[in-house]
Amino acid sequence: MTRKGIVLAGGSGTRLHPVTLGLSKQLLPVYDKPMVYYPLSVLMLAGIREIAVITTPQDQDQFRRTLGDGSQWGISLTYIEQPSPDGLAQAYILAEDFLDGAASAMVLGDNIFFGHGLTDLMRAAPDAGGTVFGYRVADPQRYGVIDFDADGHVRAIVEKPDRPASSYAVTGLYFLDDTAPEKARAVCPSARGELEITSLLEIYLGAGTLRVETMGRGYAWLDTGTHASLLDAGNFVRTLTERQGQQIGCLEEIAFVNEWIDAATLRARAAKFAKNDYGKYIEDLLQSSR
Ligand code: G1P
Repeated sequence: MTRKGIVLAGGSGTRLHPVTLGLSKQLLPVYDKPMVYYPLSVLMLAGIREIAVITTPQDQDQFRRTLGDGSQWGISLTYIEQPSPDGLAQAYILAEDFLDGAASAMVLGDNIFFGHGLTDLMRAAPDAGGTVFGYRVADPQRYGVIDFDADGHVRAIVEKPDRPASSYAVTGLYFLDDTAPEKARAVCPSARGELEITSLLEIYLGAGTLRVETMGRGYAWLDTGTHASLLDAGNFVRTLTERQGQQIGCLEEIAFVNEWIDAATLRARAAKFAKNDYGKYIEDLLQSSR
């Protein structure tokens, strides 16, 4: 069965107030695109075409207006409500019907990944068990942290530890098999009342079916959790885009390269954004494909 995707874009974005009082965090701009484009691009690069977007009930309309039904990118988007922010693992319970027995890749709607080889790294994730990615950060206590034993095997994953056992955070990209919803239902709420993704990963770890791959220093995994880091992420995207003349997270480009949309669809998208550089970029893609 083909792997399906989940973009988890719930939450109230309190750390970014007042910016997020009236707008979902994952729709804020990261330079020239809504933030959610970047995680969505990651799933598309992984070859996934059936994707559920999980949002708060009040933000769903904004996401529908922004992303539509996905047909413009040759994908199918399903919208699911998360009534209250009860933890990342809850996404698998909410998406159980949508997944319908398929393995999945879930990405957090505020996670931005960039790096040569990302597509291969993701496509190597087996359908069975779970695969997550460790990334070295300067401030691991803000994340789920990997505790390695002397042989480099993963001993535990600890959510936001006061004293991190390593500098490796678990990124917000999870490839889990078809048992994820069932396992998520067995997770007990944490002290902060949430179904933690780390608790779900611990179940996989306990069963000996969790693979932890490291994303090396050539990757960028950007934070968008504070006003400053959000601006930094935008500047990162702008710097690379202007230097290389290549977009990061251009969904039309990925869809076209994957042969999920034809030239006519690409042309319609270029026309829609004709007044700006994003539209011009799509127009150039069209010209160079002739
Ligand atoms: C969540 C997870 C954490 C993970 C992080 C990645 O944290 O709980 O394990 O490392 O996402 O972005 P949160 O963003 O909810 O603080």
